[in-house]
Amino acid sequence: MPNNFSLAVVTGGASGIGGAVAALLRDGGWSVHVIDRRPSELADVHSHICDVTDESGLVGVASEIGPIGALVLAAGINLRPQDGPAEKLSLDAWHKTLAVNLTGCMLSVRAFRPKLRQDGSIVTLGSVAAMRAMPWADAYTATKGAIVALTRSWAVDYSRDGIRVNCVCPGPTDTAMMAGMIEQHHSNSQLQLPQQRMATSLEVAEVIAFLVSPKASYLSGAIIPVDGAATAHSAGMPFPRRR
Ligand SMILES: NC(=O)c1ccc[n+]([C@@H]2O[C@H](COP(=O)([O-])OP(=O)(O)OC[C@H]3O[C@@H](n4cnc5c(N)ncnc54)[C@H](O)[C@@H]3O)[C@@H](O)[C@H]2O)c1
Repeated sequence: MPNNFSLAVVTGGASGIGGAVAALLRDGGWSVHVIDRRPSELADVHSHICDVTDESGLVGVASEIGPIGALVLAAGINLRPQDGPAEKLSLDAWHKTLAVNLTGCMLSVRAFRPKLRQDGSIVTLGSVAAMRAMPWADAYTATKGAIVALTRSWAVDYSRDGIRVNCVCPGPTDTAMMAGMIEQHHSNSQLQLPQQRMATSLEVAEVIAFLVSPKASYLSGAIIPVDGAATAHSAGMPFPRRR
């Protein structure tokens, strides 16, 4: 379904949530440019191998493309178990996590924002870690809290140009980042989540595809949990068993 917002840039688009966004937007008629440190294996997308901490690399890609209708910032890392509580985490893991998840996000906006159409939009990837305590991951949590705050700032800053900025905060989602989680819990049904399963990448991507579409034309500055009611749940109360 071709649309008026024909060019999309997806960082972290070589796998996981970013990969699902890239495929969905491509199938919706967008011309998709993936920025990742690994090549995208998707057919019919433009793959740029570039680290989001490399400002000149990002600016180089930006100089080749445009105008951009959608900028989706999905590149991210979670370095558990090197990440952890303050007194235990590796300082190297702290700096790397901030460099990719926070500085990389800002650098991507800095590089591609000048190429955004006046009616374009940006979607950031926060996390439920920014909304409820996520133990043992201080660096990751710090970056996601900052992304939520920056999303609100950018939404107001760029409103003068008609550019919308929204943040999707997934709960645990079945991607490489969460690899091993199911095995650790023996099965999906043991996960402490109201739906008793993780989200799929596609379930998160569908929300992002809506946010960058003209159907969301008055939606900006929103922080949207996509977590199957995980942040709505009151800690300490048991989950109703899934029928
Ligand atoms: N999976 C989850 O449970 C979950 C939950 C909440 C938020 N998120 C967030 O969603 C986003 C996507 O996560 P995912 O689960 O799809 O992870 P993923 O590991 O499957 O994909 C992340 C992608 O980002 C790329 N990437 C990492 N560092 C990069 C860098 N420096 N430069 C360029 N590309 C880089 C990777 O190569 C990979 O393709 C992240 O920001 C993550 O924090 C994920």
